[in-house]
Amino acid sequence: MQFAGSHILSVSQFERPDVQRIFAVADRMQPYAHRQRVTKVLDGAILGSMFFEPSTRTRVSFGSAFNLLGGEVRETTGIENSAIAKGESLYDTARVLSGYSDVIAMRHPAAGSVAEFAAASRVPVINGGDGANEHPSQALLDLYTIKSELAGRGRGIDRLRIAMVGDLRHGRTVHSLCKLMCLFDDIQVVLVSPQELRMPGEIVEQLRQSGHKVLESDVLEASIAHVDIVYSTRIQEERFSSQQEADLYRGRFRLNQSIYTEHCEPNTVIMHPLPRDSRDTARELDDDLNDNPNLAIFRQTDNGVLVRMALFALVLDVVDLVDSCARDVNWYTAGRF
Ligand code: CP
Repeated sequence: MQFAGSHILSVSQFERPDVQRIFAVADRMQPYAHRQRVTKVLDGAILGSMFFEPSTRTRVSFGSAFNLLGGEVRETTGIENSAIAKGESLYDTARVLSGYSDVIAMRHPAAGSVAEFAAASRVPVINGGDGANEHPSQALLDLYTIKSELAGRGRGIDRLRIAMVGDLRHGRTVHSLCKLMCLFDDIQVVLVSPQELRMPGEIVEQLRQSGHKVLESDVLEASIAHVDIVYSTRIQEERFSSQQEADLYRGRFRLNQSIYTEHCEPNTVIMHPLPRDSRDTARELDDDLNDNPNLAIFRQTDNGVLVRMALFALVLDVVDLVDSCARDVNWYTAGRF
């Protein structure tokens, strides 16, 4: 695809070489994300960061990625703090804010809303999550993490074995990740969820049409026994009509060190898009896994900066200028990465 000037709204817009290009650019961002070098390639550029739904890592890592490329960030957080609360349309908001920004990262609770906004925007828009629909930058960072974690074991994304666990009906990260995996070969996917929270049928069908083997289950222990990756997810309580309904499913599938030791192959990688729900009633990934070296959740969050830097560099067409606008850092940085 042509990245320069493009919106990034769905993983469906990528072909496999596009994903490989994003990963190659993400690799080149490591000296900057790891505070060895500083680049000013986006000096003067402004990111409009518009998050109309709660977010910690997507919002802050998009902002950090832009800052690390030398640009500045203007944030709007919460519908209540924007004129949308006064009845302004997404069209008008997009027309206005795209005059103030060079690129926009946006999250909104309604599926399709980011695409609607992008259609009226004069600058590229990157989807930071639209309802239960898609979260393309999360899927890219997840797949980048899978590739990185398995590289040292002689395994790759092709022939991957992965179990996805939790709220597969509402989880936009698993929706986007499944669609992205359709670009690769011979993947085995075990989908573990309560019956009511199964992966949407069209996504299961898309996986099968791509030649992947898909099993659906509502039993955790047997499902995680022969996989490279366990990808756990939170019950997406914000998508339910009531807390009581979400409570029916919270805590149904809990992975802790004892279950991991008993049922998983050695070195099975544990992933989660985060936030994990650490309340006693949930704990889908127990804190007692924190010292397990195969827990990759914080490597995922670090990789999010690399992937989002790569998206900005590609969309704003500065990949080949990054290194020529760089210098070494001045401050002490040892031991962080
Ligand atoms: N993974 C993710 O989207 O996290 P946030 O909701 O904190 O952005």
